[in-house]
Amino acid sequence: MEKFYITTAIDYVNGAPHIGHAYEKILTDVIYRHFTQRFDKTYFLTGTDEHGIKIQKTSAQNNMSPKELCDMNSQKFKDAWKALNVDYSQFIRTTDEQHEKVVQKIFKKLVEQGDIYKHSYKGLYCSGCECFLSEKDLTEDGLCPDHQKAPEIVEEENYFFKLTKYKDAIIKHIKTHPDFIVPSFRANEVLNQLENIEDISVSRATANVSWGIPVLDDPAQSIYVWIDALTNYITAIGYDPDGSSEKFKELWPATVQVIGKDILKFHSIYWPAILMALDLPLPEHLLAHGWITIDQTKMSKSLGNVISPETVMEAFNLTEPDSLRYYMASAAPCGKDGNYSDEDFKEKVNAHLANSMGNLLNRTLSMLVKYFEGDIKPEFLGKNELKEQALEAVKAVKHHFDYFEIQEAAQRIIELVDITNKYVTDNAPWTLAKEGQIEKCGIVLTNVLQVMTVIASLIYPFCPNIAKAMSEQLSYDINTKLDNITCEVLKSGHLIDKENIKPVFLRLDSELADKSKK
Ligand code: ME8
Ligand code: MG
Repeated sequence: MEKFYITTAIDYVNGAPHIGHAYEKILTDVIYRHFTQRFDKTYFLTGTDEHGIKIQKTSAQNNMSPKELCDMNSQKFKDAWKALNVDYSQFIRTTDEQHEKVVQKIFKKLVEQGDIYKHSYKGLYCSGCECFLSEKDLTEDGLCPDHQKAPEIVEEENYFFKLTKYKDAIIKHIKTHPDFIVPSFRANEVLNQLENIEDISVSRATANVSWGIPVLDDPAQSIYVWIDALTNYITAIGYDPDGSSEKFKELWPATVQVIGKDILKFHSIYWPAILMALDLPLPEHLLAHGWITIDQTKMSKSLGNVISPETVMEAFNLTEPDSLRYYMASAAPCGKDGNYSDEDFKEKVNAHLANSMGNLLNRTLSMLVKYFEGDIKPEFLGKNELKEQALEAVKAVKHHFDYFEIQEAAQRIIELVDITNKYVTDNAPWTLAKEGQIEKCGIVLTNVLQVMTVIASLIYPFCPNIAKAMSEQLSYDINTKLDNITCEVLKSGHLIDKENIKPVFLRLDSELADKSKK
C-alpha cells in the first residue's frame, strides 16, 4: 500500500491570507486530491506559524495580546481554506501546546547531543524575513532586498545550530537525489548557497523576543522561528524524541512538501540538517512553487495591490470556488511564477470550464434526451479511438502529477475536452439523427458520455463541485480510483430526464449566473 503525506508551508498570522497563500494551498489540495484518487492512505497537513518578533510587534500595534492576534488571524486562514474547499486532514498552529512541548524536547535533545551550542553574536536581523542577513545579502542602500527595510543590529548571546556539520551530507543528498528539489533547476541555486553556509542562530534573548517558545532550563532564551516552524511537519503527526506515535511511523517521511521559492533555502538546507540531527529520513520531494503577481506586478502592501481570495470570490459573486481553484492551480508551469488578473481569470474559466467542458456535457445529454429519451442502448457500447484517447489522457495526467506539473496536467485535461468536442463536430450526431442513422448517432453520444466520466474524474482535483455535478448527471461514481477507469462504466438503460440536465458551470458574466446569485 502506497501512502502519501503532503504538507504546505505554515503561514505567518500577522495578516489575513492573500492570493499567494491561496495559490499554495490550492496547488497542494489539487495534488492531494489527485493522489487520493490513486492511493489508499493520504494525509494533508497545513497550518499557521504564530511566533516571532513580527507577530509581537503587530499585536502591540493593534493593542492586542499576541495570542489574541494569532487566534483572530489563524481563524481567517481556516475560513479562507474552507471557502476554497481546501480539504486538509489537519491544521497545526505552532502555539498548540503539543507542538510547543515537543519543540522544547527537540531543542533539548539537540543541545545534549552537541548539535546546538551557545555563542555570543552580533548580526543584522530582518524582522520581515525573521532571520539574520549578511552584508552581502543587502541592497546598495543597506536594505533587505525582500522587505526594503534596514535590518536591525542585534547583539546577543544565542544558541547556535551546527549547520556546517551537515553540509557535506546535504550536498551529497541533493546530488544523489535529483528529484529531491522540484523543479530541478533550483537545485543548483541551493548547492551554491550551501558553499557559504555558517552555523545558524536558533534562539533569541527573551528580553528582545518574548513571543516564542522558551528554551527548557534556560527561559532567558526563546526558540527562534525556524526550528519552531520547520518541526511542525513532524510534531503535528506525533513525533516525540521520547517515542513517536504510530501515526508518525506510518506517515513520515513526507512524500512532498510544498513551499514557495523564497523559503527553499530553509527547507532544503536547515530542515534536512535538523532531520539528520534527529536521525530521521528526509522528505522525498520539496516542491518550490513560484510567485504569484497581480497584473504582472509584485503584490505589496505599499502598492496597495494585495488581493485576497475572498475579494475575488466576492467580485465575481462566486457561489463555489472551483473556477478560482482551476485558474490558480494552472496559473504557472511547475516552479515558475504565475499571474492573477481579473480579465484573464474570467476569460480562461469561461472558455475552459463553461464553453468547452460544461457545454459539451450539456449538449450531449440534451441530444440523448431528444433522440433517445435519455436512454443508453447496449449495442452502442464498444471500443473506439476516442476512448483510447481518453485512457491515454489518464496516463498522461498521472505522469504530470508524478512530476508535480499541475498546469501541464490541467492543459492535458482540456486537450481531451477539445478532442471530444472535435469528435462531436466531426461526427455531427444531429445530422446522423436527421438522416435516420439513429444507431450511429447513439454510438457517438454514448462514446462522448463515456469519455465525460473520465473527464469528470480528471477534473475532480481542480474542480470538485463541478466534477460532482457532472458525475451526478452521468450516474457515475466520482470516487472511482484512477486505476479503475475503463471508459466503459455507463451501463445500458435510462440515464437522465430533461429536467435533470443542468449546466455544471455558469459563465462568470452570464445573466443566468447573475440570477442564481439572487
Ligand atoms: O514564509 N505567491 O510564511 P509566509 C506565491 N511562516 N506564494 C506566496 C506569495 C506569493 N505572492 N506570498 C507568500 C512563511 N507565498 C513562514 C513559512 S514553513 C515551516 C514557514 C508563500 O506567510 C510563501 O512562499 O510569509 C510560503 O510558502 C507561504 O506562502 C507562507 O508565507
Ligand atoms: Mg514570507
